[in-house]
Amino acid sequence: MAFPATRMRRMRRTDTLRGLVRETELSPQHLIQPLFVVAGEGIREEVPSMPGIERFSISNLVEEAADIAVAGIGAVLLFGIPAAKDEVGSGAYDDEGVVQMAVRALKEAHPKLTVMTDVCLCEYTSHGHCGIFRGGSHEVDNDLSVELLAKTAISHAEAGADVVAPSDMMDGRIGSIRYQMDEEGHAGVPIVAYSAKYASAFYGPFRDAAESTPEFGDRRGYQMDPANAAEAVREAELDLDEGADMLMVKPAVPYLDIVRRVKDATGAPLAAYHVSGEYSMLKAAAANGWIDERVAVVETLTSIRRAGADAIVTYYAKEAAAWLR
Ligand code: PBG
Repeated sequence: MAFPATRMRRMRRTDTLRGLVRETELSPQHLIQPLFVVAGEGIREEVPSMPGIERFSISNLVEEAADIAVAGIGAVLLFGIPAAKDEVGSGAYDDEGVVQMAVRALKEAHPKLTVMTDVCLCEYTSHGHCGIFRGGSHEVDNDLSVELLAKTAISHAEAGADVVAPSDMMDGRIGSIRYQMDEEGHAGVPIVAYSAKYASAFYGPFRDAAESTPEFGDRRGYQMDPANAAEAVREAELDLDEGADMLMVKPAVPYLDIVRRVKDATGAPLAAYHVSGEYSMLKAAAANGWIDERVAVVETLTSIRRAGADAIVTYYAKEAAAWLR
């Protein structure tokens, strides 16, 4: 008998054969586009470290969202950059704050667009941390911060946000946000919990965009140690117990093992956040002609899905949606 030289290759011979056996699907509905909204008017400015990504004031944001609304993208995720910051991040839970106003404007102009909001204090605090300090101390106070995060989530829901996404990494915030939103009549608003958010160098460009680099210290006192994996599963389980509707792992590509572990351990709806540094690296390599951007991006996003993510937050959402059509 002849040795079977061709075995696995037969089903790779044509596009249609490859299509028949493809295990992972990637389509625009899986993608979430982050958007930065700034206080002020007539603003549309590129973020220098994130080519192709702009910060918009509200009316320009509404215009930008028109394209996104028709691109079949799953959702947008809003980040606000307020006019003024203070020690306690008041702008985060101000009913007339930049995100609250943006949500109202977006929902009015594009009622069918799913609007998610980032719930965190770091863009609103003068010190740039994701929580606040108790008198004089330089350690973020968990419970005080959780109170303000819940207030923030409620104000987003009041403005009409479809989903809230707390990214602060305080303990117990999911339970507190869920309880207080229920009390305030927002039992129908889901929570996407950034369960496993690592203290990562890949957030650098985002901090330029959101002006949220900590003034002192770093985030290792609340974000996860990149060396830990089992801990991510514990975080995920706690968030589910507290009422999370969807979990998130962040960043994505350096943490695909975590995406897989969390999916396997919980079976819960899962998002992965392809973060600013991951985006900027691809953009930089593409600008230099070192990689084929389109192929590299679709490969990257497909890999995140293959690892177990249902949804992907990515700055490439709008561009990729056009490529996937
Ligand atoms: C914090 C927050 C961060 C990102 C989203 N929410 C950054 C941080 O912890 O400094 C990073 C996203 C990115 O890099 O794209 N609220």
